[in-house]
Amino acid sequence: MKILVTGGLGYIGSHTVVELLEKGHEVVIIDNLYNSQKATHDKITAITHKPSTFVKMDATNYEGLKQLCKKHQFDGIIHFAGYKAVGESVAKPLMYYYNNLLSTITLARVAIEEGINKFIFSSSATVYGDGVSPLNEEAPLMERTNPYGETKAMSERILTDVAKANPTLNVILLRYFNPVGAHKSGLIGEVPNGTPNNLMPYITQVAKGLRDKLYIFGNDYPTIDGTGVRDYIHVVDLAKGHVAALEANKTGVNIYNLGTGKGTSVLELVNAFMSVNKVNIPYEITSRRAGDIATCYANVNKAKKELKWEAKYNVEDMVKDA
Ligand code: NAD
Ligand code: UD1
Repeated sequence: MKILVTGGLGYIGSHTVVELLEKGHEVVIIDNLYNSQKATHDKITAITHKPSTFVKMDATNYEGLKQLCKKHQFDGIIHFAGYKAVGESVAKPLMYYYNNLLSTITLARVAIEEGINKFIFSSSATVYGDGVSPLNEEAPLMERTNPYGETKAMSERILTDVAKANPTLNVILLRYFNPVGAHKSGLIGEVPNGTPNNLMPYITQVAKGLRDKLYIFGNDYPTIDGTGVRDYIHVVDLAKGHVAALEANKTGVNIYNLGTGKGTSVLELVNAFMSVNKVNIPYEITSRRAGDIATCYANVNKAKKELKWEAKYNVEDMVKDA
């Protein structure tokens, strides 16, 4: 298939482009390079030895997208482009609503007008809020999260309504749990700007000596050791989940959790990182982070059954590849 990948030079997008190329799909990437580098395109080529096209373009650029779609006659769109920092979204809500919603709306419009009938969207487990784990796709969405989470819930609703009104458009909403790790080549991975918000990139920066220690946000949660529990998923498994979703030929609107179905605490992850990589990670327990929940992990039965996909990598693989 010929696929338009938005945000395809970012963390999850670049790993997905690699998997798409490995499976013989043709890929055109657009990215505005807000949170990525053009050099990542060369690295994708170095890993796969397969050509792909990169066009620097904003996913809100209706005219540009129209031209690109007329030229390439895509079979599908995978829409990763967006902003993703929760704290920043609270400080700059308009920036988040504008970019994340307008990109989704513009791409959906172009997909309908140009007869592109597969649309895969990057959603997040954040839409479940503090629902009870294991979370399945029927779990109620949280009423209000934060501007970032709202853009995910709103994009899901927009795409659902659009697909209902346009039965030729088939939408897959993928709710990612906590993507971590990197491609085995070490050529692509997660490179956050400034102080990392997420746990794994913070740990790797401590391991590298860029930061003195890790601050663990609370050890008084009702979990195995008091620290927060999450469903970490290797980014390569996550990327393969997109290929499975694309190839599954689902019609209408379908929602899938992409996780491992296993919860891991902060301390378990830190200890695994230290023992697998033989490096010390000094840490200090501090107070809870506002908005954090105790436990979040997926029920992954639906993706297993309908997409014939499941995560293969375990926590040891994740900390090694990170
Ligand atoms: P990322 O920042 O590494 O990648 C996003 C890419 O989109 C970047 O390369 C950025 O330059 C580009 N971009 C942003 N706005 C754009 C626009 N208007 N036009 C064109 N390009 C634009 O982030 P990621 O971790 O790869 O996340 C990809 C998607 O998955 C995002 O939608 C994110 O919200 C979602 N998601 C991520 C996580 C996670 O933990 N990383 C979890 C759940 C969902
Ligand atoms: C965060 C976002 C969520 C987003 C997800 C993936 C918040 C409140 N939530 O979720 O919306 O979908 O990232 O991008 O920001 N931790 C530490 N020290 C750190 C960093 C994290 O102890 O320096 C702990 C957290 O308290 C949590 C766990 O590590 O228990 C994982 O944190 P993180 O990687 O930020 O992911 P989420 O909290 O799941």
